[in-house]
Amino acid sequence: MAETKKESSAPKYLWSRLSPHDLWVNSTGLPVHEGYFIQDGRTVKLAPWDEHGVDAAFLRLEGQQGFSEARISEMRPGANTPPSCYGFDEAVYVLEGQGITTLSAPDGSNKRSFEWQKHSLFLIPRYARHQFANTSGQKPARLLHYNYLPLAMAANPDPAYHLVNTYDDGRVLSDASLYSEAKISAGDEMSPGMSCWSGNFFADMRAWDKLDPFRGRGAGGSAVFIRFPASPVWAHMSVFPARSYKKAHRHGPGVLIVIPTGEGFSVMWPEGAEKVFIPWQEGSIFVPPDQWFHQHFNLTESPARYLALHSPYHFNITAEAVKDPARDQIEYTEEDPAIRKYFETELAKRKLTSMMPEEAYKDAKFEWKYK
Ligand SMILES: [Fe+2]
Repeated sequence: MAETKKESSAPKYLWSRLSPHDLWVNSTGLPVHEGYFIQDGRTVKLAPWDEHGVDAAFLRLEGQQGFSEARISEMRPGANTPPSCYGFDEAVYVLEGQGITTLSAPDGSNKRSFEWQKHSLFLIPRYARHQFANTSGQKPARLLHYNYLPLAMAANPDPAYHLVNTYDDGRVLSDASLYSEAKISAGDEMSPGMSCWSGNFFADMRAWDKLDPFRGRGAGGSAVFIRFPASPVWAHMSVFPARSYKKAHRHGPGVLIVIPTGEGFSVMWPEGAEKVFIPWQEGSIFVPPDQWFHQHFNLTESPARYLALHSPYHFNITAEAVKDPARDQIEYTEEDPAIRKYFETELAKRKLTSMMPEEAYKDAKFEWKYK
């Protein structure tokens, strides 16, 4: 008699090369976009995600490496999403369109609504009942979502625990976390000497111009650190001048970069290995992999800016930190001359020349002048 093979009763995530989060993502049947970068998040292919009332896709980019989740959702003109309560914080950046987010306590009390537009950034606090509405009757609204669900699912692999979670002990869902317009505040322990922009709603990441000099990274660039109430998720935005480029640096995985405005490219590479070139424009998205050097270049006559969404700040102390500036950052005086050559060649194709001062390549202590 032939032996029948018994199906294992062990959950799929046990002894699987795929993480619980990857298995869950695959189970949705939604498109998963892989690779080093997304040229334009505004145009990537989506598919209906009926239970959430949107079209959606996941981004599984090199560099996310089991830390962060990124997905894109799109609401059709005039559409509303059904209410959800997640057990994790989620940052949302508006790639296209306009709409309203309604947040409340899990039981629907303490309801707050705010209107967003293209280039807004906001936080959905964990446990908050949240719903989105597209306020345009003609155009879709497209959102980029960022969270650290892969980390949470590594510890507890049950998707429903994270995706339907109404726990609230009254401390997380304060008035400030349900709605607080962003305000500049003094820097904290994590960003000494730099001011922070704190709140859960940031109206226009493309227009914000109150940034502090970010002296260590060169190019005369400036930055602002972003804090959300009661959330370990954080962000920063960097702006750097026309026809310039920043110093290469490296750190841990999971930090997702999206471009609100500008045109240029970034280079990413593991020490001693081949370089990956990433052309970018508004809507481009990429994630520097763990300990890969990365460097950003502006190819236009206007300032460029990028928004970086970070994993929980604990990883800024451990995995994400630039621990040894001498090893984890490359000064212009030390960089591969091919970097400068490539930048100048790309500028020349646009009939532009570099604004990088010659002294920056000769003097490691060269200081940019800030207004
Ligand atoms: Fe970085």
